[in-house]
This record gives sequence, structure tokens and C-alpha cells, in this order.
Amino acid sequence: MSDTSPEVPILRRLDDLRALTRAWRRAGERIAVVPTMGALHAGHISLVAAARTRAERVIVTIFVNPRQFNSREDYEKYPRTEEADAVLLEPFAVDAVFVPAEHEVYPEGFATTVSVSGLTAPLEGEYRPGHFDGMSTVVTKLLTMTSADCAMFGEKDWQQLQVVRRMARDLNLDCEIVPCPTVREPDGLALSSRNQRLTHDARAMSAALPRALLGAAAEIAEGRAPGPVLETARAAVLGAGFDSIDYLELRDAETLGPAIEGRPARLFVAAWAGPVRLIDNVPIAVPAG
Ligand code: PAF
Repeated sequence: MSDTSPEVPILRRLDDLRALTRAWRRAGERIAVVPTMGALHAGHISLVAAARTRAERVIVTIFVNPRQFNSREDYEKYPRTEEADAVLLEPFAVDAVFVPAEHEVYPEGFATTVSVSGLTAPLEGEYRPGHFDGMSTVVTKLLTMTSADCAMFGEKDWQQLQVVRRMARDLNLDCEIVPCPTVREPDGLALSSRNQRLTHDARAMSAALPRALLGAAAEIAEGRAPGPVLETARAAVLGAGFDSIDYLELRDAETLGPAIEGRPARLFVAAWAGPVRLIDNVPIAVPAG
């Protein structure tokens, strides 16, 4: 990625970003941010498009945050595709792409952690200890570093979205958290940077994940007991070739606690295809009474 590309203005230093955002603010312009870890795909582009409709200025941040990975190996293997990211962003005339070095985000002596309790305990929290602390800390930093009025988050990471909403509310961050729908491949697989790491065979069977979720969601909405429906869905995922399932669960969409009749609920899954862990979720209409 060339720092001098006129189409995609890359900034690596916070001082340079601040100079820009201060000028924009003086001109009365709103700022929208799309926080990413790079390896951009059409899902990210949908966030950029949503950002464009909400603010005069759009910043995309690209930072592979070491503090939200559970293993050094996963962090190191996370795809880094700066050149391709720049090419993908070019048609969208973003006003700045902020690509900070690690020391810019976590300077020597950095000692602060933002930690949200409750919402972070189940699902990803159970299987990825520390992940949400790392995520919440970096998102707080990215929102303040960019002085954003609004920030776009994909519904594919539904639990992350709820945690960020709670954190923004609790810390009185003056930044609207905007949810954006999951973007899917034609066969239903949710777009994710991790999909790049799927083998040909794993990619071929991975649509079994959304298929199982959507099938189970439809059956529960029709009034079938969730227990056996979820068992059948788990069997379908493993039968398709996934190696293991961390969770496939029905939960309240907002609190992430047990689903309650008449309240919005969602089905959540995390499953392993070889070394690649995929997550997904779908809404479900839990029948009242
Ligand atoms: O969803 C992601 O890509 C990351 O968790 C985020 C929000 C960019 C923070 O590192």
C-alpha cells in the first residue's frame, strides 16, 4: 500500500490523523469510522457504504489487534493484505485509512484495559478468554483516536456488537454505534476474513453452518422444542464435515442470556473446520406463549 496513493490516503501516525479530524470538525463535518483488522471483503465494503450515508468524512481503520487474539499462532496467521485492501477501497473515496503501528496504539507502558462484564461471559467469552477485553480496549481507542460521530459494526459479530453498544453507553462515548447486516456468499456462508484460510474442501462444506442455523431457526419459530432442534442442527454441522462445535445455542438477542418467550432471540454458532474457527448467528422469532 503506497502512502502517497492519491486515491487512498493512508495515515500511520496519530498526529497526522488528529490534524485531519480537527480540520474536519472545525468545518462542521461529521466523521464515520469503520474499524477493521484488514483482509477486507464485501462485508467491510457494505460498512463503508453505510458510513458514507451518515457522515461527510469516512475513516477506515486497519489494525490487527494483538490483544484480542487467544493464541500467538492465530494472530500471526491472521491474513494481512494491505495492497489488496487499498485496491478494494479505491472506488469508495474514503477520506482516510488509518493503519497504525502497534506502538502507536499501545505505547510503552500502556496499562489500561476496558472490560465489559456480563455480556462477555457466554459464547465467545467462554471459549476466547480475554478476547473481549482486548477488543473493547482497542475499539475505545479507535473511536477516540478518530473522533468519530458514528462507527459501523457488522451483525455477523453479534456479541461484539452488543458489547460495543454497552461499552459506548457505559462510558458516555459520544459516538453512535451503527449495526450493519451480515453479508453472505451466494451459498449462505457469512463473509469473514478467516474464510480465506479455508481449504477447498472446507469451503465447500462450510455452507452447512448457515443452513443448519436457518433450518433450526425456522423450526423453533414454528413452535418445535429448541432442545431437540438444536441437537439435530449440531449433528448436521458435524455430519457435513466440521471437526467440532464450540457452541450452537439459542439466546436472548440483547442480553445474550437464556431466550425468553416473546423477546427477540438469536441462534449462535462457533465451529471448527480444521484450524479455522467460523462463527455465525441468525435471528429467530420465538413464538409467544
Ligand atoms: O471485528 C473486528 O474486525 C475487530 O474485532 C475490530 C472491531 C476491528 C476491533 O479490532
